[in-house]
Amino acid sequence: MHLGIDIGTSAVKLAVMRDGRVIEQSSADLAVASPRPGWSEQDPQAWWAAIGVAARKLSTDLGGVTGVGLSGQMHGAVLLDAEHRPLRPAILWNDSRAVAECRTLSERVPAIGQIAGVPPLPGFTAPKLLWLAAEEPGLYARIAHLLLPKDYVALRLTGECATDMSDAAGALLLDEAARDWSGDIVAAAGIDPGWLPRLLEGTEVAGRVTPEAAAHTGLPAGCPVVIGGGDTAVGAVAVGAVEPGRAVLSLGTSGQIFLAGDRYAPNPDAMLHAFAHAVPGRWYQMAAMLNGGRPLAWIAGQLSLSVPDTLALAATADPGRVPLFLPYLTGERSPHADPHIRAAFYGLEDSTDRAAIARAVIEAIAFSFADGAASFAGALDDVPQLLTLGGGARGDLVVQTISDATGLTLARAEGAAAGPALGAAKLAAVGTGAMTFADLSRSPEAGDIFTPQGSPDLAARLARYRALYRALRPLAAAGDI
Ligand code: XUL
Repeated sequence: MHLGIDIGTSAVKLAVMRDGRVIEQSSADLAVASPRPGWSEQDPQAWWAAIGVAARKLSTDLGGVTGVGLSGQMHGAVLLDAEHRPLRPAILWNDSRAVAECRTLSERVPAIGQIAGVPPLPGFTAPKLLWLAAEEPGLYARIAHLLLPKDYVALRLTGECATDMSDAAGALLLDEAARDWSGDIVAAAGIDPGWLPRLLEGTEVAGRVTPEAAAHTGLPAGCPVVIGGGDTAVGAVAVGAVEPGRAVLSLGTSGQIFLAGDRYAPNPDAMLHAFAHAVPGRWYQMAAMLNGGRPLAWIAGQLSLSVPDTLALAATADPGRVPLFLPYLTGERSPHADPHIRAAFYGLEDSTDRAAIARAVIEAIAFSFADGAASFAGALDDVPQLLTLGGGARGDLVVQTISDATGLTLARAEGAAAGPALGAAKLAAVGTGAMTFADLSRSPEAGDIFTPQGSPDLAARLARYRALYRALRPLAAAGDI
């Protein structure tokens, strides 16, 4: 029996796997703090506490677990002192404070996009270290360890500082082709190499559960902990997207289109991320949208409705009377690399009702995936179907609208509901010898299939959506709106 732990943004999720299948899941919610506009932070101790809560919700006795695997939100900066104590809240993937520092990194390492797989963007870890050096020098002077979110959990479980290729990639500190730290980028970000954790492949054992961690979780002391990887890569593992040409569309808080490959294929100009996969000898290309499914949860909250009720309401909208929405609540990464843009409605009329507003938000999510798909410039053409992952992909209306807007065939896969937590359990099984790489690439059963229903009206609305972004971009960049 294997346990997968996923440190999400809105919750910690646990999946217990036996013989390759999830037998039980649990979760515990997490809060995100935004102490200033554009900031996004979370207390690392809260991840550890939430794991204890989620473990206690399981009826399965975790004493029988023979391997633990990890997955987590990528790009966060976890800063620890020499005693492994967090120096401040982690700065998360959707934090946009380090804008100027991205320019500094690009000036210092002009080839950074080619080396690290994508040009610097404010949510990544490396520019945050330059920001800390300038803005919080007292704290900076006490940094002894730099970890990614799931690596902090590995540390609490085992006492060891380690990370994996896929999370190191998201830190923007990896030489992707070499699968090793990039000395040039590490130096340009002002990082002491001694702060960096041991670099493992995602299937390697980082350490063993300590007696203290066993008491906190119910896991057996001595149980091996496999390091796992960043949530996009590990979510892909959950549904077999480790073989070249397999693709995933993921709709959690954020959103991704992910294409696995067996070689490093950077395309920094298209704002595609080319990152090391969580399994050896594999890389992937990804369009990464910060706003993925978040706008749906946001509008549901504003309407005081559940997400399913919001979807039901949106289905009643008159398609001819739907306003346009730009979904950029937190700026956007792919394809715009624009930390300044914010969300906007356009075309509200006296007659616009709640249903039309909800429908506009769903269309905007689909349009943002259409932009993401377009950045692959044909590389998705040979992919017969993309498997969907994430809570946002549960609603048929959302998935069908994404299929219509992108022209992609989408399929819900077996295991998709457990997502990265299942992928983490599978990596644990591989790392402890209970599964093979061949098992990982088994294609899951596809459930509901969504094929694009071309609509000239939707295509015209997509063109207007793109025009609206182009019109607002300069105003946002100038700080005028
Ligand atoms: C990927 C990304 C998100 C975060 C949070 O690049 O930013 O997937 O990992 O889920």
